[in-house]
Amino acid sequence: MKALIRSIGAYIPKNKMTNDAISKIVDTSDEWIVSHTGIKNRYFAADDQANSDLAIEAAKQAIERAKISPEDLELIIVATATGDYKGFPSVACILQEKLGALNAGAFDLAAACTGFVYALEVAKNFIESGHFQNILVVASEKMSSIMNWEDRNTCVLFGDGAAAAVVSRAQEADDDSAIIYSFLRSDGSGADALSIPAGGSRNPIDLERTKKEDLYVYMDGRRVYNFAVKAFTDIIKHICDKCGISLDEVDYIVPHQANIRIIEAAAKRLKQPMEKFYINIDEYANTSAATIPIALNEMQEKGMLKKGNLVLTAGFGGGLTYGGNLIRW
Ligand code: UT7
Repeated sequence: MKALIRSIGAYIPKNKMTNDAISKIVDTSDEWIVSHTGIKNRYFAADDQANSDLAIEAAKQAIERAKISPEDLELIIVATATGDYKGFPSVACILQEKLGALNAGAFDLAAACTGFVYALEVAKNFIESGHFQNILVVASEKMSSIMNWEDRNTCVLFGDGAAAAVVSRAQEADDDSAIIYSFLRSDGSGADALSIPAGGSRNPIDLERTKKEDLYVYMDGRRVYNFAVKAFTDIIKHICDKCGISLDEVDYIVPHQANIRIIEAAAKRLKQPMEKFYINIDEYANTSAATIPIALNEMQEKGMLKKGNLVLTAGFGGGLTYGGNLIRW
């Protein structure tokens, strides 16, 4: 029994913000942001749009494209670090109700920017075990809700967005299409390099003592950068070794969009042309767990993904987590 991505959908909120607009808020410039990250734009949710409001749009599109009804879903997994509420209820439960997915269990998955990669592997295993036939995997982030607009080290990097995939049991007509293999790893020794320092059970909010900046995302950029370049190449090498394929057989590498320099460094180490890597960080910035499925959705809409194509994803981020999926489209 094999699992495949039956369909994919995405939703990008309407509020576009250029680097020039950001440089009116913090001491930065279009030149610095483009040269250090490759980012030119990002999109932000409206104040009254929560995470699940983005997720629902992506989910509806994926479900429609899969030609199934919400009642066919047996599980909803939402990869996110920016839920509607702290801890609970999960975005997945809110989504379950909004979709009318009456037969589905639902939970959120916390693996930060690697969330979609992890969630795809969880879905794959539930399908391959024969337990479920249709699972909705969503990656949705309202990064603007955890960004510190006084910290130029981080606020220039992120955007909001959501994407969803229906993962289903493969049928005979699907031929070789499948989620073939996933590689999941973590390095908790770097947990403090990327976090929201306060508001959890380690440092609960104390209205008198909590520092405002500790309620927003903190990142030791250099440390995460160095981790990311190594993690990226490890993911690709491990998957190719384990699956007995050469990188020349892979049609596209779809990386987490955190920094174009990380992708360029990995391309150099792997001796692969940049054309093999799908890049859209310039338009959407870093939407955390959502970058990889937003990219897959865009590739699909452009007609780039042909049946039989071999696609490798590579994610890395808070945790620190990293991992990738090998997918036969
Ligand atoms: O999605 C989760 C995973 N995240 C990542 O993978 C991100 C990994 N890290 C990075 O992508 C990069 O480290 C950053 C883009 C965050 C930063 O780039 P960098 O080349 O590592 O810059 P830096 O932190 O070493 O800072 C260089 C200089 C500093 O000034 P001084 O100390 O040299 O005078 C910073 O203060 O750039 C300054 N700087 C800025 N200047 C203008 C930092 N942010 C900005 C800014 N505008 N927005």
